[in-house]
Amino acid sequence: MAKSETRIILALDFDRLDQAERMVEITHEHVDVYKIGPILFTRFGPGIIEFARNTGAGVFLDLKFHDIPNTVRGGVRAASSLGVNMLTIHALGGIDMMRGALEGAEEGSKTFGTARPLIIGVTVLTSMAGEEDTLTQVLKLAGDACEAGIDGVVCSPLEVGRVKEAHGDRLLTVVPGIRLGGDQANDQARVGTPGQAVRDGADFMVVGRSVTGSSDPKEALARILEEVEDA
Ligand code: C5P
Repeated sequence: MAKSETRIILALDFDRLDQAERMVEITHEHVDVYKIGPILFTRFGPGIIEFARNTGAGVFLDLKFHDIPNTVRGGVRAASSLGVNMLTIHALGGIDMMRGALEGAEEGSKTFGTARPLIIGVTVLTSMAGEEDTLTQVLKLAGDACEAGIDGVVCSPLEVGRVKEAHGDRLLTVVPGIRLGGDQANDQARVGTPGQAVRDGADFMVVGRSVTGSSDPKEALARILEEVEDA
């Protein structure tokens, strides 16, 4: 895969708007998509999406819906009114739930006149330790995601190569758990470097505390971009 094909997603996991604003100011030239998760969204509500859209980058709403199919359908329909480019659900919710999400996105974008967001299924959280059967589980959930017809999956740097091999023609891959050499893993268990993720064909890599928790976020992002270029 050509080096420029891996897009950079930056996780704005802050509960203060000024911190998010500062991070956008520092990083916007190099970030393709900003990720809004439960921290900012719960603190500031849907208005925070407008802030993210105004950065000019794409917007990823990472609320990881996991409920009965009808509820997820309604939640995704509502989320589609916000004009986000991608959003997450849990693949563990099952094929019918994933189909419900897709239907909700299609209905919502028609009703609200927005582009349909990409529906991305979380497989096994990157904070879960890599057990012997983690890869099998991830591949099974990625197969379910294909069957449901959603757009992509979230998996760790340890599985992305195998997921691309099995389903690369059908599924986009979104890869968190990215750490630079010398970084803390924090609560993540299945981690890898930016270079590894690019070489294994990640379509998107999610970068969080490697940059946002660094004393010099600009320099940390530059190191990541360098690894991406070199991969
Ligand atoms: O700070 P760190 O690089 O660990 O951030 C990773 C981001 O990706 C967090 O916002 C986390 O919620 C998100 N994420 C994850 N694992 C998944 C899905 C999303 O770490 N399976």
